[in-house]
Amino acid sequence: MAGPGRSCPVAYRYRPEDLAGAAAFTATTLYVVGGLYGNTHALDAVLARAVAEPVRPEIVFDGDFHYLDADPDRFAEIEAGVHAHHATLGNVEYALTCDDATVGCGCDYPGYVADSVVTNSNLVLDRLRETSPVGSRARLAALPRHLTVEVGGHRVGIVHGDPESLAGWRLALEAAYPSDPRAHAETGFDGEPTTSATVVDWCRRADVTALCCTHTGLPWMQDFSGHVVANNGCAGLPNFTGQRTGLLTRVSADPRPPDDAVYGTVHDGLRIDALPVRYDHDRWRADFLRAWPPGSPGHVNYAARIADGTWLTVAHATRGTVRENRGP
Ligand SMILES: [Fe+2]
Repeated sequence: MAGPGRSCPVAYRYRPEDLAGAAAFTATTLYVVGGLYGNTHALDAVLARAVAEPVRPEIVFDGDFHYLDADPDRFAEIEAGVHAHHATLGNVEYALTCDDATVGCGCDYPGYVADSVVTNSNLVLDRLRETSPVGSRARLAALPRHLTVEVGGHRVGIVHGDPESLAGWRLALEAAYPSDPRAHAETGFDGEPTTSATVVDWCRRADVTALCCTHTGLPWMQDFSGHVVANNGCAGLPNFTGQRTGLLTRVSADPRPPDDAVYGTVHDGLRIDALPVRYDHDRWRADFLRAWPPGSPGHVNYAARIADGTWLTVAHATRGTVRENRGP
């Protein structure tokens, strides 16, 4: 399917083998923070949580850290915060920096996502192009499309979408196998599920124990025969029904689960958890409404989620042998 917001530029394409090279760096604890969406208060919350770690974590912002920050001051805050750590390219950053006007928001939305959502997303990107400084684009354009990090002797692959495309949807919750009927019903998913064999094949070719991703909006985690997929949903938006916290993926050589983990798993000493990003909702909402008042495309697409979360429950995101953290 073609058209702005539904296109898949050649620049998005890579192969799992492209992740199989030397690790970019080694970490005891790694945060993978996808989908800040321009929420500076979520950025503050991520950095505050990092300070509370016994060992300072390395932080990778794996794309879409910009999006709703159509305010030069907020945009500059995100730029400064993200580039003080590690970052990879998301489709928002790609769309901001490429010359191809037909890319729209760059989301490569599948057919089951409504046209109105795609249209509004393209309009959000149009506005961001107008309000963000041109001088920031070269640094964004130079970001890598994926990253491999070593944690506790394990290699961890980080992508925005999936191991074949920067804006791929094959690691969306609704695509995961075994299929979740509620996820299919809520999203209208009508594609082929991404089987365990596919995930294992990707991880073997990438030579990684775990794959961390984001992009598709809803979080989930699952262990596929010793290869863990962790999609953090959005760090800067609510993820679960009735909750107003973002989510990040924490990977650590310390096998003890963090007290505030929402859910997680351990594989061969590698601890992988979803942590809440407890940002200041009132301040984020105020920023959002200033930039995206009622009737604007950002408001139409995101106001309800910011206020009420999604349909998702923690039980839907906690798949297979992954365990919800019910506290001590
Ligand atoms: Fe994305």
